Amino acid sequence: MHDMSAYALDGMTAVVTGAGSGIGRSTALQMASAGANIVVAELEHDTAEETAEMIRRLGQHVLVAVTDVTNVESVQAMMAAGIDEFGGIDVLVNNVGGLGPRPRKTTIVELELTEWESLLRLNLTSQFICCKAFITYLIDTARKGNIVNIASLAALVPYETSVVYGAAKAGVVSMTQTLAAEYGKHGIRVNCIAPGHVRTPIPEALYKAREELRAAQRSIIPLGRWGEPDELGRLAVFLASDASSYVTGQTIVASGGMTYFLTKLPQG
Ligand SMILES: NC(=O)c1ccc[n+]([C@@H]2O[C@H](COP(=O)([O-])OP(=O)(O)OC[C@H]3O[C@@H](n4cnc5c(N)ncnc54)[C@H](O)[C@@H]3O)[C@@H](O)[C@H]2O)c1
Repeated sequence: MHDMSAYALDGMTAVVTGAGSGIGRSTALQMASAGANIVVAELEHDTAEETAEMIRRLGQHVLVAVTDVTNVESVQAMMAAGIDEFGGIDVLVNNVGGLGPRPRKTTIVELELTEWESLLRLNLTSQFICCKAFITYLIDTARKGNIVNIASLAALVPYETSVVYGAAKAGVVSMTQTLAAEYGKHGIRVNCIAPGHVRTPIPEALYKAREELRAAQRSIIPLGRWGEPDELGRLAVFLASDASSYVTGQTIVASGGMTYFLTKLPQG
């Protein structure tokens, strides 16, 4: 007789930011499959509703909260709505991030300060805003909880023509360590996932019609392929569950074994 209950999220409520697409959507679905109620905290109403419908089909409870994670009031309203709906929040997955609405890869010489600031806000400040709101709530209510931050392999190795993305994601890794050290005594765990290449819409579009580049990129991945969003979602479930109850402050690289990026990437 096997008891796998430590791997489940039964009775827990998880906020997943950016759950309308890619890794966020898969994480929300995997967490729902593991038994959690989900708050879909997403900027785009229509894609948020699509994710919510998928969760309902799994027989789980879901709340759509149209949220801008770069905005303090919006995040506070989303948390309040989740607490009101489900009686509490146990897990925060800080998934929003990326290269922004007009993805382009540039050197520091070409990068404008406004672009630097907006990508820092999307990738790092957003996670500060969500962590601050969630940890404040946990401390105020003497509740245990845990956080899974999504960074990138780019936080740990150079990713040429992405100076701000790498810097912001390195900030996510550092914030994960600091918050884990500060709040471990309150029973709050904070961990991080650093994905390599994952088959989500934006990287798919960047590599579209560049099959030679995709093949070259695959050739440096020991597992020989990009990751699937569900594979990241399952790792997030593990980090959110009691199965990882003695793990905090850690960044787990999920890159199929890839340890560096090819530098000649498509220019946007
Ligand atoms: N896909 C990859 O290969 C890869 C690799 C490394 C790291 N990552 C990281 O994983 C995370 C998810 O990546 P993805 O490729 O699944 O992204 P995605 O672009 O497919 O999804 C991001 C979602 O976030 C939402 N969003 C954007 N701004 C928002 C805001 N201000 N407030 C709320 N929601 C907002 C978008 O509407 C979208 O639904 C990002 O942090 C990204 O940097 C991805």
